[in-house]
Amino acid sequence: MTEHSETPRLDAELLMAKALAVPRETLLLGRLDDLVPDGFEALLARRLGGEPMAYILGSRAFWTIELAVTPAVLIPRPDSETLIEAAVGHFRGATGPARILDLGTGSGALLLAALSEWPQACGIGVDRSTDALAVARVNAARLGMAERATFMRGDWAEALAAQFDLILCNPPYVEEGATLSAEVMREPHAALFAGADGLDAYRVLAPQVTRLLAPQVTRLLAPHGIACVEVGSTQAPSAGALFAAQGLAVDVKRDLSGHDRCLVLRLR
Ligand SMILES: C[S@@+](CC[C@H](N)C(=O)[O-])C[C@H]1O[C@@H](n2cnc3c(N)ncnc32)[C@H](O)[C@@H]1O
Repeated sequence: MTEHSETPRLDAELLMAKALAVPRETLLLGRLDDLVPDGFEALLARRLGGEPMAYILGSRAFWTIELAVTPAVLIPRPDSETLIEAAVGHFRGATGPARILDLGTGSGALLLAALSEWPQACGIGVDRSTDALAVARVNAARLGMAERATFMRGDWAEALAAQFDLILCNPPYVEEGATLSAEVMREPHAALFAGADGLDAYRVLAPQVTRLLAPQVTRLLAPHGIACVEVGSTQAPSAGALFAAQGLAVDVKRDLSGHDRCLVLRLR
């Protein structure tokens, strides 16, 4: 397992807990003497074959919520919590966002994390993948947020004509042909790759954030709102320039590792 994992003991414990159908804590506190349960060998074989833990376990923690994940969705990353942190910081002490948009919602991670922060808010999650949208709907239902979260198929914000106080977006941003680990390559390629320089999604998104919603003289992003857009650790200058060219003010937030991770965009 060490060939594929930096946490082989933890992985083994989680797989054993899954095979026993108990929480890992129960396993550690008292079930260590049980016989190896049926199913453990099969789970281990999947892990040794390089399948990500989140796909085997079928879930991943993100922010304060637990999300179902399948191979139809990107596995939510802790780095993406930087977007939620930035949004929470922006709205601290003020009325929270009433309407939230999550572009490229995948498992629904960003939208549902944001809705968990602002119980009065509602939101829309857009994705091009119908399989991903099915997972997002399951997550919204499990978290009791189905009435506040609408999921729709679309090409970024192209078909939207409403205004949002908070726009969240973690688009694909890896350059085509980049070498990724075999484990990451099991995730949907449409969630990873964005053209020769990794910036293709930003090129489409930048004009959409400031787009006028005809016939009203309003824009997708509300006047006092923000858009939080994830970037690769070296992309803040290049992606930021694309949004700045649309007249947006651009700040950069770093993730917990100190890497540039989130563009915070405001209308000027
Ligand atoms: C990097 S994943 C992010 C998933 C999720 N928001 C997260 O942070 O875990 C990017 C998502 O964008 C979706 N996507 C790619 N191209 C798209 C497009 N043109 N319109 C809408 N969604 C798109 C992919 O299907 C994928 O779910």
